[in-house]
Amino acid sequence: MPIERIKTGIPGLDEILHGGIPKRNIVLVSGGPGTGKSIMAQQYLYYGLTMGEPGILVTLEEHPVQVRINMAQFGWDVRKYEEKGLFAMVDAFTGGIGEAAKRERYVVRDPTDVGNLIDIIKEAIRDVGAVRGVIDSVSTLYLTRPSLARSIIIQVKRVLSGLGVTSLLISQVSVTERGFGGPGVEHGVDGIIRLDLDEIGGELKRSLIVWKMRGTSHSMRRHPFEITSKGIVIYPNKVLKITRYGVFEERA
Ligand SMILES: Nc1ncnc2c1ncn2[C@@H]1O[C@H](COP(=O)(O)OP(=O)(O)O)[C@@H](O)[C@H]1O
Ligand SMILES: [Mg+2]
Repeated sequence: MPIERIKTGIPGLDEILHGGIPKRNIVLVSGGPGTGKSIMAQQYLYYGLTMGEPGILVTLEEHPVQVRINMAQFGWDVRKYEEKGLFAMVDAFTGGIGEAAKRERYVVRDPTDVGNLIDIIKEAIRDVGAVRGVIDSVSTLYLTRPSLARSIIIQVKRVLSGLGVTSLLISQVSVTERGFGGPGVEHGVDGIIRLDLDEIGGELKRSLIVWKMRGTSHSMRRHPFEITSKGIVIYPNKVLKITRYGVFEERA
């Protein structure tokens, strides 16, 4: 029996994943600042909404109002889905402080209280019947306590996967680091997509590589991508080679 998959809807990505993300997988989207992690996750959620698949976005680093504005700039208006009860923004940023925060429905008072965070995530998933989930970013959850990173990831995974949600967890790494962020985190997740920015001939080039994806084969190559006014577009027929002599783009 073929496995059930969730189509990301991001041009090029489903081809690289040989059809999409296996259902219930928890996928780490890892990369440095400005590599397109948040945009990728938002695009994934919004595509789901247009396909009748409800979703939740847990925001830990940006004000929920700002996230809605950012998404609207790509034409992804989540407000109408929030009004219909098909999308939930979980505000784990404001701590309930400020006028705008008072209008948020799902507010986590103290994101370092993982128990409380998980309760609110559960409530949001149940209310909207979420099929897709995003946490932006999980790094914030263990910033001050890296030794707990893996156990926090496992707790989050148990809830998301247990409730049938296929999720992208954003993980931040520093500009020079080639890892995935946080000790042991990469072992707890079902998949890892790594986003990079490299300078090539005085120009920054975007690329991504699927490092791991439980339940499916996938491209083993580094593919270039772009961010356009409509979001991310990946080129499955092109590869980016990073060698000690430089970074080169070639046809796959
Ligand atoms: N409308 C746009 N068109 C093209 N590129 C954009 C647009 N908006 C943002 N970007 C690019 O996306 C980057 C931010 O992407 P984001 O997903 O927020 O990164 P992060 O990995 O830090 O979450 C910006 O640095 C910029 O290069
Ligand atoms: Mg971001």
